[in-house]
Amino acid sequence: MASASSDTPAVQAIQATKMFLDGAVIAYRNLNLEIRAQEILCIVGPSGCGKTTLLRSIAGLTDLSSGQLLVHGKPVKGPPDGVAMVFQHFGLLPWKTVYDNGAFGLRMNGADEATVKERVSRYLDLVGLRGFDKSFPHQLSGGMQQRVGLVRALAMNPSILLMDEPFAALDAQTRETLQEELLALMQRPEERKAMVFITHSIDEALLLADRIAIMTARPGKIDEILTSPFGWPRDLDGVQRNPQFAEMRAYIRSKLKAPTDPSKFKPATETA
Ligand SMILES: Nc1ncnc2c1ncn2[C@@H]1O[C@H](COP(=O)(O)OP(=O)(O)OP(=O)(O)O)[C@@H](O)[C@H]1O
Ligand SMILES: [Mg+2]
Repeated sequence: MASASSDTPAVQAIQATKMFLDGAVIAYRNLNLEIRAQEILCIVGPSGCGKTTLLRSIAGLTDLSSGQLLVHGKPVKGPPDGVAMVFQHFGLLPWKTVYDNGAFGLRMNGADEATVKERVSRYLDLVGLRGFDKSFPHQLSGGMQQRVGLVRALAMNPSILLMDEPFAALDAQTRETLQEELLALMQRPEERKAMVFITHSIDEALLLADRIAIMTARPGKIDEILTSPFGWPRDLDGVQRNPQFAEMRAYIRSKLKAPTDPSKFKPATETA
């Protein structure tokens, strides 16, 4: 686990730039962002603006092209300690049982079997998968598979949890259930951690986030960061009933609308 003190930001990006294909594609450019040690930061932004690439950079899965990226105050060089990632499409190993999928990250980190058993069982219980240890992923619903992905990440006791649209593939009902389960988990003091949660759903961001970072279109950078007015504890009904919900939702929607090229809307008479 990281030894940095709790007032060291979990993540700091300073003028961070990531290019692909010798600079032909700039995923994000001169991006500045500070993620606090125990906050839930939701990131919203247009498709292709570099959100997944940013998470992969924080997870040490890809290098920056320029600028700086610090996790717990230290430059990222390969996967940093204490960082776990939950992928959009579950990322489970189909030939392994629920238990072994849940244990995968911990075992990769060299944990002993007693620790694996204690932690994996605890999180399988917490997310309602008790009794499914020996099932295989194809025997589970999408929501249950996503819970296994969560167990795998949470069992590692990460200080930073990276979530890349983890609930996007789920039906609306299951998605709401998992959102509320995640909030309930994060409300436990012993489970609080920095969580970076990417979503295309403004409602999801408004429910989950302590702060919402809005990114610009590619090359992405942070356009604005909004602080949630909803406080803790919060739940879906309470948040949606709050008059500020509709206001913030409309504001974020307007920010995310693609900027229009005014020349396209010139009256025909002007160009004649
Ligand atoms: N390995 C790669 N090689 C080349 N280009 C890449 C690679 N990974 C990502 N890109 C490009 O970088 C840009 C940002 O991609 P990224 O996946 O980070 O976007 P995103 O914001 O997560 O989009 P979405 O909301 O659709 O998931 C895109 O133009 C993408 O084509
Ligand atoms: Mg993405």
